[in-house]
Amino acid sequence: MKNNIAVITGGASGIGKSLCYRYGRAGYKICIGDIEEPALAKTVAELAKEEISAYSYTLDVSSSSSMENFTQSVLEDVGTPGIVCLNAGVGAGGPIDTTEIKDWEWVLAVNLWGVIFGVRNFLPILKEANEGHIVFTSSIAGHLSYPGMGPYNASKHAVLTIAETLYFELEQINSDVGVSALCPGLVRTGILESDRNRQEKYRVPALQQDEQGEQGEDRKELIQEIYANSLSPDVVADLVFDAVEAKKFYIFTDNAHHDHMRIRHQRIESGNNPSLDGDLIDHIAAGVNEREK
Ligand SMILES: NC(=O)c1ccc[n+]([C@@H]2O[C@H](COP(=O)([O-])OP(=O)(O)OC[C@H]3O[C@@H](n4cnc5c(N)ncnc54)[C@H](O)[C@@H]3O)[C@@H](O)[C@H]2O)c1
Repeated sequence: MKNNIAVITGGASGIGKSLCYRYGRAGYKICIGDIEEPALAKTVAELAKEEISAYSYTLDVSSSSSMENFTQSVLEDVGTPGIVCLNAGVGAGGPIDTTEIKDWEWVLAVNLWGVIFGVRNFLPILKEANEGHIVFTSSIAGHLSYPGMGPYNASKHAVLTIAETLYFELEQINSDVGVSALCPGLVRTGILESDRNRQEKYRVPALQQDEQGEQGEDRKELIQEIYANSLSPDVVADLVFDAVEAKKFYIFTDNAHHDHMRIRHQRIESGNNPSLDGDLIDHIAAGVNEREK
């Protein structure tokens, strides 16, 4: 790629950080936009040890003006990006009827509006250059609707359809700009601690945060254990790098959810009601038990 500059939102942790390493090792200059300043500084220092040239910017993807400033700074300080990974994201959930409105607002502000602001700012630049690739981070939650994850599912379905829509729009004008939708299953990152980056205006009073008592605690432990044993983000970054090279649109990190996706599509086609046995964690736990047998 002529413009060997990679922009990565949420690059200070998890999948984003691994993408910084992957593109950095391939000779790209890295521009990281992230809300978590200490992690941002640490990441840039670590990248420097590998002689990866990285630029850090404090960015709140849910703010239109913050994304505009970020875009301008990247252009002025580094140049026209070739790769844009709209990766920053957070997780919060619970049953639809009890999920706090602030949880909805926060998850949609970061996961959905963050992507909308990102694509609005960077797409014209890539189109102008008629080169480059945008990677939208959706999720398996962009294809399925596991219970207890309403805001997250809504945000990731929306991101997937934005990516697909853009893919068709660029095809219509024969653009050389590429698009991919990254749809990871579970990946070992900081996502369970997303609250660390919750902006003040989206905070929910502590009392309301966990009313599930002991049962909730057991479940939390199970979720933490499952995440701790899930896929390394470095593997995800390799998959992204190869998929972008190959101009591949859908990037899945495993096929653990493919049966559920197939059933969903079949049921839609045949006019049957949705069917899903258990939630995401039940499904993963069953998969883990199956493997251990
Ligand atoms: N970990 C998984 O199992 C998994 C699965 C599917 C999809 N994803 C998606 O992958 C992406 C990366 O998440 P991760 O799992 O690496 O988690 P992570 O918490 O390790 O990384 C998320 C990064 O986003 C940043 N961020 C959060 N809010 C921000 C904001 N308002 N503005 C700018 N940056 C912000 C965080 O500081 C952090 O560096 C997210 O979009 C997430 O939804 C993760």
